[in-house]
Amino acid sequence: MKKSILLWLRWKHLIPENISFDTPTAAPPIPLSYGAFVTQENRAGMDNLFVSSHPLVKHKLTLLRDVGTDHRTFRELVRELALLLCYEATQDIKISPKTVTTPMAEAHGSKADEKIGLVPIMRAGMGLLEGVMELLPDVQVWHIGLYRDEKTLRPVQYYNKLPTEATVQVCIVLDPMLATGGSATATIDILKQWGVMRIKYLGLLAAPEGVAALHKAHPDVPVHVAELDSHLNEIGYIIPGLGDAGDRMFGT
Ligand code: PRP
Ligand code: URA
Repeated sequence: MKKSILLWLRWKHLIPENISFDTPTAAPPIPLSYGAFVTQENRAGMDNLFVSSHPLVKHKLTLLRDVGTDHRTFRELVRELALLLCYEATQDIKISPKTVTTPMAEAHGSKADEKIGLVPIMRAGMGLLEGVMELLPDVQVWHIGLYRDEKTLRPVQYYNKLPTEATVQVCIVLDPMLATGGSATATIDILKQWGVMRIKYLGLLAAPEGVAALHKAHPDVPVHVAELDSHLNEIGYIIPGLGDAGDRMFGT
């Protein structure tokens, strides 16, 4: 392929940055409605993936990724993105009829009718909470504390105060980064054992590896993100990603 075409494809984010000019492009990525990095090879296991196509999400995500974005702006962008993604992720929340009286007449409307629980995975999931709660002010919040072991990349649980019986019908798991998928899978395991069977995942960036792993473990869980990125690097970070979400949020 001509160098100018490759440069253009890179600029449009239609091919991953790790494809060099000398690399044979036998299986070029095909842009689908969800993410530009989906190839014939990695599209398996993506049936439940919903990548936002909203222009404001794309705009804000680009600012978020920028290494020059300061912590305060980063947190504000995370809050705004969470709100926009929550709007998309709650399109199938059940409603029931409700009638109110306006100053003019009776109006037959609706009320959201499911008990929703938000489950932020600490720490970075906390950043998504504020934006989501602006849309869903009357929900329960149940924190799960997990960190990823740096060597094994496996999640280690350090906080869980769920009561013995489930108190909600739907859970929305909040975590900005779906990398290997280990943290999300472990959290959803916990929620299913708790007795919640309707679960959604809401995040900012996903790697194909994480989407596939989560889909394998929990094919019923829809994954709502702002973008599907190219791949994980050798230490489990999303590329191009945004770096360590918790560190950028909290300035550590
Ligand atoms: C990050 C992120 C996810 C996890 C994703 O948390 O917020 O929880 O990594 O990786 P995985 O898909 O491979 O499990 P981290 O462990 O860095 O903890 P933190 O939120 O305290 O920074
Ligand atoms: N956790 C992060 O914060 N960033 C990554 O890229 C992967 C896991």
